[in-house]
Amino acid sequence: MSTFPSTRLRRFRRTAALRALTRETRLSLDDFVYPLFVCPGEGVERPLEGLPGIAQRSVDRLCDAAEDASRAGVRALLLFGIPEEKDEAASGAYDDDGIVQRALRALRDRVPGLVLLTDVCLCEYTSHGHCGLVEGDEVLNDVSLELLAKTAVSHAEAGADAVCPSDMMDGRVGAIRGALDSEGFEQTPIVAYSAKYASAFYGPFREAAESAPAFGDRRSYQLDPPNVREALRECELDLAEGADAIMIKPALPYLDVIRAARDRFDAPLFAYNVSGEYALVKAAAARGWLDERPAALEGLTAIKRAGADVIFSYWTRELAEWL
Ligand code: PBG
Repeated sequence: MSTFPSTRLRRFRRTAALRALTRETRLSLDDFVYPLFVCPGEGVERPLEGLPGIAQRSVDRLCDAAEDASRAGVRALLLFGIPEEKDEAASGAYDDDGIVQRALRALRDRVPGLVLLTDVCLCEYTSHGHCGLVEGDEVLNDVSLELLAKTAVSHAEAGADAVCPSDMMDGRVGAIRGALDSEGFEQTPIVAYSAKYASAFYGPFREAAESAPAFGDRRSYQLDPPNVREALRECELDLAEGADAIMIKPALPYLDVIRAARDRFDAPLFAYNVSGEYALVKAAAARGWLDERPAALEGLTAIKRAGADVIFSYWTRELAEWL
């Protein structure tokens, strides 16, 4: 192997054009999904303190935001709903006239070309804020599956292009695949939040989705942060149950998990650059401690470099201006 002075790695770093020519990883808006929050009412646009630039919007305002994003080049949305009322059975999640179902129908009409993904979970709809049904202080697995499957079917009926279960109950991908198939939605893909960790970085999201658990935490169903082999088992099981794509979440603190999943599985790999990852850059930038745009781009590029095909990011709308 030749070394210095015949080898000089700086040769290709000399100009912007040479660096562009030898760049190994690139960001494209095609690979980004923009998460949006829909709430009841009309003319509502409530900015979120912990997620600067993101708001809860009523269906009419959501359609405006989606149209604006689509015109700017955004290709796909992920929808979260804040229902009128919450109850023990999460009825708002699978109500044909629920908030996400209404948003889907309106968006289908208004911005037909946008890819519409939905988060399938019960936590925004249960009075206790857990992702499944609860008995005492236990989050029940098997009885929650039926409700998650009903939720996924009702999203597909309302026009979702793909459903993304984020609850972390065992067996939910199989239950959802079975229900979708028996209702005639065998063409609807499942993007499974396969390796979803019990993370401290979801804080700002829980304010946005009003879904913080009323008691306890999510550690009895979400993954334990120190584990990577277990994450790969989750991915493997989800694929065996019929997942069309797998997801790692959060992204930046789990780049090793993204890389391990990329090396092991050939299915499309999604990563969720979550609320806390976004909020901390926004907060530091607001104080003048770092420059937001290069910091955001560096983080998002790292997620791609680690092996993600698709990134869910709150920066997606801004990326449309930056890229
Ligand atoms: C619902 C869900 C959560 C997120 C996505 N879907 C929160 C949670 O598990 O508490 C987090 C997204 C983010 O932080 O941006 N289960």
